[in-house]
Amino acid sequence: MKDLLRTADLSRADVDLLLDTAADFAKNPLRATDALAHRSVAIYMTKPSTRTRLASETAVAHLGGTPIFLRGDDLQLGRGETIADTARIISGFASALIVRTFAQADVNELGEYASIPVINALTDDDHPTQLLADWITIREVFGKDIAGRKFTYIGDGNNMAHAWLTMGAIMGAHVVVATPTGKFAPDSQAVAIATKIASTTGGKIEVLHDPEAAAQGASVLYTDVWMSMGDPESERSEKLKALSPFAVTEKLMALTEKDSIFMHCLPAHRGEEVEASVIDGAKSVIWREAFHRRTTIQAILYHLVRGELSGN
Ligand code: CP
Repeated sequence: MKDLLRTADLSRADVDLLLDTAADFAKNPLRATDALAHRSVAIYMTKPSTRTRLASETAVAHLGGTPIFLRGDDLQLGRGETIADTARIISGFASALIVRTFAQADVNELGEYASIPVINALTDDDHPTQLLADWITIREVFGKDIAGRKFTYIGDGNNMAHAWLTMGAIMGAHVVVATPTGKFAPDSQAVAIATKIASTTGGKIEVLHDPEAAAQGASVLYTDVWMSMGDPESERSEKLKALSPFAVTEKLMALTEKDSIFMHCLPAHRGEEVEASVIDGAKSVIWREAFHRRTTIQAILYHLVRGELSGN
């Protein structure tokens, strides 16, 4: 496995290895400062980022390397240079490329033409690095035995919903996504991919449109901001109206298991997708989850650059 382009690229063995290494990096961030010594990692982002950028730059530094941050309009790519030529050039200067952009196809093309590992740091379709931070947090809270537990994402059927389903399937978990019907439901192809993976891992995939049924007996309630980067402003009022029954409230949390947790990839809009008393309450693990962005990206870089992930 050269690249991490999609959550579905990862095998269960890869995820276990990455989470174990990330746990080591959480305890001792500087245990592999020679891994990228005298090497650079390019971080190219055409969308804003707080956590992923900070996590990526600090992960590279903790591995002894130099991060080179490139904004969308910094490169000649924006003036017509091809993705293929850009990938070839970055490969001559850096040991890995972390990329955040809109189209999954662009990240796939970078992976095709780059000779170095390419890591998807969010596209319109997927967010694999986030899911590793989520699952190390879940593992810390509940341990490795997740039999009988239900993991629910509630809200917009976006890239996070897709990644939630896929990673849950890889982990053999019972995962639920609850969204409105129609245009804010998850992509049917993403659901099909997760369902196929779940059929080989013992996982269970459910796509529901009833927030209370989804929350009932859940160990995790997860949500994401309702207006994602790139969503048309013209859609705002329609989208917020459709999603309002899917807000994570105290009432919804009361339907979950006694030891349940609340998760959010952040940034959050308190009073929209989640009540402030939930996200800032005792069940919320959002800060632990956010700080695992660094430990998990550090683990991804460490193993991908060494060619130690097998892939699916
Ligand atoms: N969760 C996440 O990807 O955060 P940023 O958009 O701030 O990177």
